[in-house]
Amino acid sequence: NKISSFQKDILNWYDKNKKALPWRETKNPYMIWISEIMSQQTQVETVMPYYSRFIAKYPNLKALAEANDEELLKLWEGLGYYSRARNLKIAAGQIVSTFDSIFPNQLSDILSLKGIGPYTAAAISSISFNLAEPAIDGNLLRVTSRLFELDDDISKASSRKIFDEKLRLLISQHRPGDFNQALMDLGSMICSPKAPLCEECPIQKYCDAYQHQTQENFPVKTKK
Ligand code: ADE
Repeated sequence: NKISSFQKDILNWYDKNKKALPWRETKNPYMIWISEIMSQQTQVETVMPYYSRFIAKYPNLKALAEANDEELLKLWEGLGYYSRARNLKIAAGQIVSTFDSIFPNQLSDILSLKGIGPYTAAAISSISFNLAEPAIDGNLLRVTSRLFELDDDISKASSRKIFDEKLRLLISQHRPGDFNQALMDLGSMICSPKAPLCEECPIQKYCDAYQHQTQENFPVKTKK
């Protein structure tokens, strides 16, 4: 059917064209967590050397929970948004004390950690624990809005549910983490905000906006 063809097409494209990122070599939730927090306000290409230095210095949860604050912030220099680094250490402490030093594998437990919101919880759940949770970042909002010509304002919190429901119908149950990351890569490499490369898009034939040549009208966004 159409949904399994869609999944096959996007995952085949991902297997051939995915970005080579150091955290794609692992499913370890500690590493995935660090990479997702670093990638939040920063391009993944910029994150790479920071990620490698971070994992070398703090190779596991216990090392991070016991980190020296000054050294931790020093390592973060250049990434900005320093509360992200402070929250990482706090959450590592939560995992040590509340979850017996084992990274939790339930969505609700992951969401209870300091600094982890719906996007990050879904990214970790899908990539590390194979849970079929859509990890909705700016890229997925743009891709999904074009795919279905969704005109709900992406700056409104109330629109999240609409995008989430649409993506739940599409997400691969077998490879949810790859599915999420395929749409992230597609959003940054092909389905760009301006002048998207629709002729190279592996899911062109499923895209309502392409059918009507309305790509540039999506996503709808009021406030900036
Ligand atoms: N941006 C944030 N996390 C990412 C990931 N896992 N893959 C690609 N882009 C991302």
